Amino acid sequence: MRRTGISGLGISIPDKVLTNRDLEKMIDTTEEWIRTRTGILERRIAGDEQTTLDLCIEAGENALKDAGVDAANLDLIIVATVTPDMLFPATACLLQDKLGAKNAAAFDLEAGCSGFVYGLVTGAQYISSGAYSRVLVVGAEILSRITDWEDRNTCVLFGDGAGACVLEPVEKGGLLGFDLGSDGAGGHFLDLPAGGSRLPASRDTVARRLHYIRMDGNQVFKFAVKAMGRAALKALDMAKLSSDDIDLFIPHQANKRIIDAAGRKLGLPEEKVFMNLEKYGNTSGASIPLALYEAVGEGRINQGDIVVLSGFGAGLSWAAAVIEWN
Ligand code: UT7
Repeated sequence: MRRTGISGLGISIPDKVLTNRDLEKMIDTTEEWIRTRTGILERRIAGDEQTTLDLCIEAGENALKDAGVDAANLDLIIVATVTPDMLFPATACLLQDKLGAKNAAAFDLEAGCSGFVYGLVTGAQYISSGAYSRVLVVGAEILSRITDWEDRNTCVLFGDGAGACVLEPVEKGGLLGFDLGSDGAGGHFLDLPAGGSRLPASRDTVARRLHYIRMDGNQVFKFAVKAMGRAALKALDMAKLSSDDIDLFIPHQANKRIIDAAGRKLGLPEEKVFMNLEKYGNTSGASIPLALYEAVGEGRINQGDIVVLSGFGAGLSWAAAVIEWN
Protein backbone atom coordinates (compact mmCIF):
# COMPACT_ATOMS: atom_id res chain seq x y z
CA MET A 1 0.00 0.00 0.00
CA ARG A 2 1.41 3.41 -0.96
CA ARG A 3 1.29 6.33 1.47
CA THR A 4 -0.59 9.53 0.58
CA GLY A 5 0.53 13.05 1.45
CA ILE A 6 -0.69 16.60 0.80
CA SER A 7 1.68 18.22 -1.72
CA GLY A 8 -0.13 21.53 -2.26
CA LEU A 9 -2.83 23.78 -0.83
CA GLY A 10 -4.89 26.67 -2.20
CA ILE A 11 -7.91 28.75 -1.23
CA SER A 12 -10.42 31.19 -2.63
CA ILE A 13 -12.23 33.76 -0.52
CA PRO A 14 -14.84 36.23 -1.81
CA ASP A 15 -14.01 39.93 -1.22
CA LYS A 16 -17.29 41.01 0.39
CA VAL A 17 -17.22 41.00 4.20
CA LEU A 18 -20.45 40.80 6.21
CA THR A 19 -19.91 41.76 9.86
CA ASN A 20 -22.02 41.04 12.92
CA ARG A 21 -22.86 44.75 12.98
CA ASP A 22 -24.16 44.47 9.40
CA LEU A 23 -26.40 41.58 10.53
CA GLU A 24 -27.81 43.74 13.34
CA LYS A 25 -29.33 45.90 10.59
CA MET A 26 -30.84 42.91 8.78
CA ILE A 27 -32.41 40.78 11.54
CA ASP A 28 -33.28 40.85 15.24
CA THR A 29 -29.83 40.06 16.67
CA THR A 30 -26.86 41.70 18.35
CA GLU A 31 -23.14 41.70 17.67
CA GLU A 32 -22.63 40.48 21.24
CA TRP A 33 -25.04 37.49 20.88
CA ILE A 34 -23.32 36.25 17.74
CA ARG A 35 -19.81 36.73 19.14
CA THR A 36 -20.44 35.10 22.51
CA ARG A 37 -22.62 32.20 21.26
CA THR A 38 -20.51 31.33 18.22
CA GLY A 39 -17.13 33.14 18.22
CA ILE A 40 -17.88 34.49 14.72
CA LEU A 41 -17.09 38.16 14.01
CA GLU A 42 -17.52 38.31 10.24
CA ARG A 43 -17.97 36.10 7.17
CA ARG A 44 -17.36 36.38 3.42
CA ILE A 45 -20.21 36.55 0.92
CA ALA A 46 -19.80 35.69 -2.76
CA GLY A 47 -20.53 38.38 -5.36
CA ASP A 48 -23.74 38.09 -7.40
CA GLU A 49 -21.82 36.84 -10.44
CA GLN A 50 -19.65 34.35 -8.50
CA THR A 51 -20.49 30.65 -8.38
CA THR A 52 -19.12 27.70 -6.44
CA LEU A 53 -17.25 26.69 -9.61
CA ASP A 54 -15.43 30.06 -9.65
CA LEU A 55 -14.20 29.45 -6.10
CA CYS A 56 -13.17 25.89 -7.05
CA ILE A 57 -11.15 27.17 -10.02
CA GLU A 58 -9.17 29.68 -7.95
CA ALA A 59 -8.56 27.32 -5.02
CA GLY A 60 -7.74 24.42 -7.36
CA GLU A 61 -5.31 26.42 -9.50
CA ASN A 62 -3.53 27.71 -6.40
CA ALA A 63 -3.21 24.21 -4.94
CA LEU A 64 -1.84 22.83 -8.24
CA LYS A 65 0.69 25.68 -8.40
CA ASP A 66 1.71 25.08 -4.79
CA ALA A 67 2.23 21.37 -5.54
CA GLY A 68 3.99 22.04 -8.84
CA VAL A 69 1.52 19.73 -10.60
CA ASP A 70 0.23 20.33 -14.11
CA ALA A 71 -3.57 19.99 -14.38
CA ALA A 72 -3.11 17.63 -17.33
CA ASN A 73 -1.40 15.18 -14.96
CA LEU A 74 -4.33 14.97 -12.53
CA ASP A 75 -5.98 11.54 -12.34
CA LEU A 76 -9.01 12.49 -10.27
CA ILE A 77 -10.89 15.57 -9.05
CA ILE A 78 -13.25 15.40 -6.07
CA VAL A 79 -15.37 18.42 -5.14
CA ALA A 80 -16.97 18.28 -1.70
CA THR A 81 -19.93 20.67 -1.61
CA VAL A 82 -23.58 21.07 -0.64
CA THR A 83 -23.88 24.08 -2.95
CA PRO A 84 -22.90 22.76 -6.38
CA ASP A 85 -23.50 25.08 -9.34
CA MET A 86 -26.31 22.73 -10.41
CA LEU A 87 -27.67 19.35 -9.29
CA PHE A 88 -25.92 18.00 -12.36
CA PRO A 89 -23.52 17.97 -14.09
CA ALA A 90 -21.17 17.64 -11.14
CA THR A 91 -19.22 20.79 -10.30
CA ALA A 92 -16.13 18.55 -10.35
CA CYS A 93 -16.71 17.88 -14.08
CA LEU A 94 -17.10 21.60 -14.80
CA LEU A 95 -13.86 22.16 -12.86
CA GLN A 96 -12.10 19.40 -14.82
CA ASP A 97 -12.87 21.31 -18.01
CA LYS A 98 -11.89 24.75 -16.68
CA LEU A 99 -8.58 23.49 -15.27
CA GLY A 100 -7.75 21.63 -18.49
CA ALA A 101 -7.42 18.39 -16.50
CA LYS A 102 -8.07 16.33 -19.60
CA ASN A 103 -6.96 13.03 -18.06
CA ALA A 104 -8.93 13.29 -14.82
CA ALA A 105 -12.03 11.48 -13.62
CA ALA A 106 -14.28 13.78 -11.61
CA PHE A 107 -17.15 13.57 -9.16
CA ASP A 108 -18.87 15.58 -6.44
CA LEU A 109 -19.05 14.24 -2.92
CA GLU A 110 -21.86 15.30 -0.61
CA ALA A 111 -21.14 14.82 3.09
CA GLY A 112 -22.03 18.27 4.43
CA CYS A 113 -19.38 19.89 6.57
CA SER A 114 -17.52 16.54 6.78
CA GLY A 115 -17.18 16.58 2.99
CA PHE A 116 -13.58 17.75 2.60
CA VAL A 117 -12.19 15.11 4.99
CA TYR A 118 -14.41 12.46 3.35
CA GLY A 119 -12.92 13.60 0.03
CA LEU A 120 -9.36 13.54 1.29
CA VAL A 121 -9.73 10.02 2.67
CA THR A 122 -11.51 8.85 -0.50
CA GLY A 123 -8.81 10.33 -2.76
CA ALA A 124 -6.12 8.72 -0.63
CA GLN A 125 -7.64 5.26 -1.22
CA TYR A 126 -7.05 5.58 -4.99
CA ILE A 127 -3.43 6.54 -4.34
CA SER A 128 -2.87 3.79 -1.74
CA SER A 129 -4.24 1.17 -4.14
CA GLY A 130 -1.87 2.36 -6.86
CA ALA A 131 -4.74 3.20 -9.22
CA TYR A 132 -4.04 6.97 -9.30
CA SER A 133 -1.08 9.20 -8.43
CA ARG A 134 -2.41 12.77 -8.40
CA VAL A 135 -5.77 13.72 -6.92
CA LEU A 136 -7.24 17.20 -6.42
CA VAL A 137 -9.70 17.53 -3.53
CA VAL A 138 -11.70 20.76 -3.21
CA GLY A 139 -14.11 21.83 -0.47
CA ALA A 140 -16.19 24.75 -1.77
CA GLU A 141 -19.41 26.45 -0.73
CA ILE A 142 -21.61 29.41 -1.48
CA LEU A 143 -23.85 28.87 1.53
CA SER A 144 -25.19 32.43 1.31
CA ARG A 145 -27.36 31.25 -1.62
CA ILE A 146 -29.14 28.58 0.48
CA THR A 147 -29.31 30.64 3.68
CA ASP A 148 -32.64 32.02 4.85
CA TRP A 149 -31.69 35.62 5.54
CA GLU A 150 -34.87 36.02 7.60
CA ASP A 151 -33.96 33.18 9.99
CA ARG A 152 -31.74 34.52 12.76
CA ASN A 153 -31.13 30.99 14.08
CA THR A 154 -29.08 30.11 11.00
CA CYS A 155 -28.15 33.15 8.93
CA VAL A 156 -25.60 34.47 11.42
CA LEU A 157 -23.56 31.26 11.17
CA PHE A 158 -22.63 30.68 7.55
CA GLY A 159 -20.15 32.06 5.02
CA ASP A 160 -18.70 31.39 1.56
CA GLY A 161 -15.25 30.16 0.47
CA ALA A 162 -13.18 27.29 -0.87
CA GLY A 163 -10.04 25.34 -0.06
CA ALA A 164 -8.21 22.69 -2.08
CA CYS A 165 -5.39 20.21 -1.72
CA VAL A 166 -3.36 18.03 -4.06
CA LEU A 167 -2.72 14.45 -2.93
CA GLU A 168 0.31 12.49 -4.12
CA PRO A 169 2.22 9.38 -3.00
CA VAL A 170 4.87 9.97 -0.31
CA GLU A 171 7.72 7.81 1.01
CA LYS A 172 6.88 8.33 4.67
CA GLY A 173 4.27 10.05 6.84
CA GLY A 174 1.15 11.36 5.11
CA LEU A 175 -2.29 10.02 6.01
CA LEU A 176 -1.82 7.67 8.97
CA GLY A 177 -5.38 7.06 10.10
CA PHE A 178 -8.98 8.14 9.64
CA ASP A 179 -12.52 7.71 10.88
CA LEU A 180 -15.57 8.26 8.67
CA GLY A 181 -19.09 7.82 9.99
CA SER A 182 -22.76 8.64 9.62
CA ASP A 183 -26.01 8.64 11.56
CA GLY A 184 -28.84 9.23 9.09
CA ALA A 185 -31.40 8.99 11.88
CA GLY A 186 -30.40 12.56 12.75
CA GLY A 187 -30.52 13.79 9.16
CA HIS A 188 -33.64 15.89 9.74
CA PHE A 189 -31.80 18.05 12.30
CA LEU A 190 -29.94 19.78 9.45
CA ASP A 191 -31.41 19.72 5.97
CA LEU A 192 -32.55 21.56 2.87
CA PRO A 193 -35.96 19.98 2.22
CA ALA A 194 -36.93 21.01 -1.32
CA GLY A 195 -35.41 20.91 -4.79
CA GLY A 196 -34.73 17.16 -4.84
CA SER A 197 -36.97 14.34 -6.06
CA ARG A 198 -38.99 14.26 -2.84
CA LEU A 199 -40.14 17.87 -3.01
CA PRO A 200 -39.39 19.22 -6.49
CA ALA A 201 -39.25 23.00 -6.77
CA SER A 202 -42.72 24.53 -7.01
CA ARG A 203 -44.36 27.82 -6.11
CA ASP A 204 -45.50 26.17 -2.91
CA THR A 205 -41.98 25.04 -1.86
CA VAL A 206 -40.62 28.49 -2.60
CA ALA A 207 -43.43 30.18 -0.67
CA ARG A 208 -42.73 27.89 2.31
CA ARG A 209 -39.00 28.77 2.16
CA LEU A 210 -38.09 25.10 1.80
CA HIS A 211 -35.07 25.80 -0.42
CA TYR A 212 -33.10 27.13 2.51
CA ILE A 213 -31.04 25.47 5.26
CA ARG A 214 -33.16 24.30 8.19
CA MET A 215 -31.44 23.39 11.43
CA ASP A 216 -32.20 22.39 14.98
CA GLY A 217 -29.10 24.11 16.38
CA ASN A 218 -29.27 22.54 19.84
CA GLN A 219 -29.47 18.98 18.49
CA VAL A 220 -26.60 19.57 16.06
CA PHE A 221 -24.59 21.18 18.87
CA LYS A 222 -24.99 18.11 21.12
CA PHE A 223 -24.09 15.76 18.28
CA ALA A 224 -21.06 17.85 17.30
CA VAL A 225 -19.58 17.97 20.79
CA LYS A 226 -19.61 14.17 20.93
CA ALA A 227 -18.74 13.39 17.32
CA MET A 228 -15.72 15.59 16.69
CA GLY A 229 -13.57 14.44 19.60
CA ARG A 230 -14.65 10.80 19.25
CA ALA A 231 -13.79 10.72 15.52
CA ALA A 232 -10.37 12.25 16.19
CA LEU A 233 -9.65 9.61 18.87
CA LYS A 234 -10.68 6.76 16.54
CA ALA A 235 -8.49 8.11 13.74
CA LEU A 236 -5.57 8.42 16.19
CA ASP A 237 -6.19 4.84 17.27
CA MET A 238 -5.91 3.65 13.67
CA ALA A 239 -2.63 5.58 13.40
CA LYS A 240 -1.43 3.93 16.66
CA LEU A 241 -1.09 7.38 18.22
CA SER A 242 -2.78 9.17 21.12
CA SER A 243 -3.99 12.72 21.64
CA ASP A 244 -0.64 13.46 23.34
CA ASP A 245 0.96 13.12 19.89
CA ILE A 246 -1.15 15.88 18.32
CA ASP A 247 0.85 18.95 17.27
CA LEU A 248 -2.13 20.77 15.77
CA PHE A 249 -5.86 19.99 15.85
CA ILE A 250 -7.86 21.51 13.00
CA PRO A 251 -11.58 21.13 13.72
CA HIS A 252 -14.51 22.08 11.51
CA GLN A 253 -15.04 25.79 12.12
CA ALA A 254 -18.70 25.86 13.19
CA ASN A 255 -18.81 27.30 16.69
CA LYS A 256 -16.07 28.26 19.17
CA ARG A 257 -17.93 26.51 21.99
CA ILE A 258 -18.03 23.23 20.03
CA ILE A 259 -14.33 23.56 19.17
CA ASP A 260 -13.40 24.31 22.80
CA ALA A 261 -15.35 21.24 23.97
CA ALA A 262 -13.61 19.00 21.42
CA GLY A 263 -10.22 20.41 22.45
CA ARG A 264 -11.03 19.65 26.09
CA LYS A 265 -12.10 16.09 25.22
CA LEU A 266 -8.72 15.57 23.58
CA GLY A 267 -6.91 17.21 26.53
CA LEU A 268 -5.30 19.80 24.26
CA PRO A 269 -3.99 23.20 25.33
CA GLU A 270 -5.49 26.16 23.42
CA GLU A 271 -2.37 26.69 21.30
CA LYS A 272 -2.78 23.24 19.74
CA VAL A 273 -6.31 23.98 18.52
CA PHE A 274 -6.56 26.04 15.34
CA MET A 275 -9.39 28.51 14.89
CA ASN A 276 -10.18 31.04 12.16
CA LEU A 277 -13.98 31.00 12.32
CA GLU A 278 -14.00 34.58 13.59
CA LYS A 279 -13.13 35.67 10.02
CA TYR A 280 -15.15 33.25 7.91
CA GLY A 281 -17.99 31.77 9.97
CA ASN A 282 -19.06 28.24 9.11
CA THR A 283 -18.13 27.55 5.47
CA SER A 284 -19.16 23.86 5.62
CA GLY A 285 -17.00 21.78 3.25
CA ALA A 286 -14.55 24.65 2.84
CA SER A 287 -13.89 25.23 6.54
CA ILE A 288 -11.20 22.61 7.20
CA PRO A 289 -9.08 23.27 4.07
CA LEU A 290 -9.36 27.05 4.69
CA ALA A 291 -8.11 26.49 8.24
CA LEU A 292 -5.37 24.08 7.13
CA TYR A 293 -4.14 26.58 4.52
CA GLU A 294 -3.97 29.40 7.08
CA ALA A 295 -2.31 27.19 9.70
CA VAL A 296 0.46 26.34 7.22
CA GLY A 297 0.74 30.01 6.18
CA GLU A 298 1.12 31.08 9.81
CA GLY A 299 3.95 28.56 10.33
CA ARG A 300 1.85 26.53 12.77
CA ILE A 301 2.65 23.24 10.94
CA ASN A 302 6.16 21.92 10.36
CA GLN A 303 7.51 18.82 8.67
CA GLY A 304 6.94 15.73 10.82
CA ASP A 305 4.08 17.32 12.80
CA ILE A 306 1.00 15.26 13.59
CA VAL A 307 -2.02 17.18 12.34
CA VAL A 308 -5.55 15.99 13.10
CA LEU A 309 -8.49 17.19 11.01
CA SER A 310 -12.00 16.54 12.35
CA GLY A 311 -15.38 17.57 11.02
CA PHE A 312 -19.10 16.92 11.50
CA GLY A 313 -22.22 18.03 9.73
CA ALA A 314 -25.26 17.24 7.62
CA GLY A 315 -26.07 13.57 7.30
CA LEU A 316 -25.52 13.56 10.13
CA SER A 317 -21.92 12.71 9.35
CA TRP A 318 -18.43 12.96 10.76
CA ALA A 319 -14.90 12.53 9.45
CA ALA A 320 -11.43 12.74 10.98
CA ALA A 321 -7.96 12.24 9.52
CA VAL A 322 -4.50 12.02 11.09
CA ILE A 323 -1.69 13.32 8.90
CA GLU A 324 2.06 13.32 9.49
CA TRP A 325 3.02 16.47 7.63
CA ASN A 326 5.51 16.07 4.77
O1 UT7 B 1 -21.66 22.70 10.41
C1 UT7 B 1 -22.69 22.15 11.15
C2 UT7 B 1 -23.78 23.17 11.19
N1 UT7 B 1 -24.34 23.54 12.42
C3 UT7 B 1 -23.76 23.85 13.60
O2 UT7 B 1 -22.61 23.66 13.84
C4 UT7 B 1 -24.64 24.47 14.62
C5 UT7 B 1 -24.49 23.91 15.99
N2 UT7 B 1 -25.27 24.70 16.93
C6 UT7 B 1 -24.87 25.90 17.40
O3 UT7 B 1 -23.80 26.37 17.05
C7 UT7 B 1 -25.72 26.59 18.41
O4 UT7 B 1 -26.76 25.73 18.81
C8 UT7 B 1 -26.33 27.93 17.87
C9 UT7 B 1 -25.24 28.98 17.72
C10 UT7 B 1 -27.03 27.71 16.54
C11 UT7 B 1 -27.35 28.47 18.85
O5 UT7 B 1 -26.75 28.66 20.13
P1 UT7 B 1 -27.46 28.15 21.46
O6 UT7 B 1 -26.65 28.56 22.59
O7 UT7 B 1 -27.75 26.69 21.26
O8 UT7 B 1 -28.78 29.02 21.45
P2 UT7 B 1 -30.29 28.53 21.42
O9 UT7 B 1 -30.62 27.93 20.10
O10 UT7 B 1 -30.53 27.69 22.64
O11 UT7 B 1 -31.05 29.88 21.55
C12 UT7 B 1 -30.97 30.68 22.73
C13 UT7 B 1 -31.79 31.92 22.52
C14 UT7 B 1 -33.19 31.65 21.97
O12 UT7 B 1 -34.07 32.56 22.59
P3 UT7 B 1 -35.06 32.06 23.77
O13 UT7 B 1 -35.89 30.98 23.16
O14 UT7 B 1 -34.14 31.54 24.86
O15 UT7 B 1 -35.79 33.29 24.14
C15 UT7 B 1 -33.08 32.01 20.52
O16 UT7 B 1 -34.31 32.44 19.95
O17 UT7 B 1 -31.17 32.78 21.55
C16 UT7 B 1 -32.09 33.15 20.55
N3 UT7 B 1 -31.40 33.37 19.30
C17 UT7 B 1 -30.85 34.53 18.94
N4 UT7 B 1 -30.79 35.72 19.57
C18 UT7 B 1 -30.15 36.71 18.96
C19 UT7 B 1 -31.14 32.45 18.31
N5 UT7 B 1 -30.44 33.04 17.32
C20 UT7 B 1 -30.25 34.32 17.69
C21 UT7 B 1 -29.59 35.41 17.08
N6 UT7 B 1 -29.55 36.58 17.76
N7 UT7 B 1 -28.98 35.32 15.89
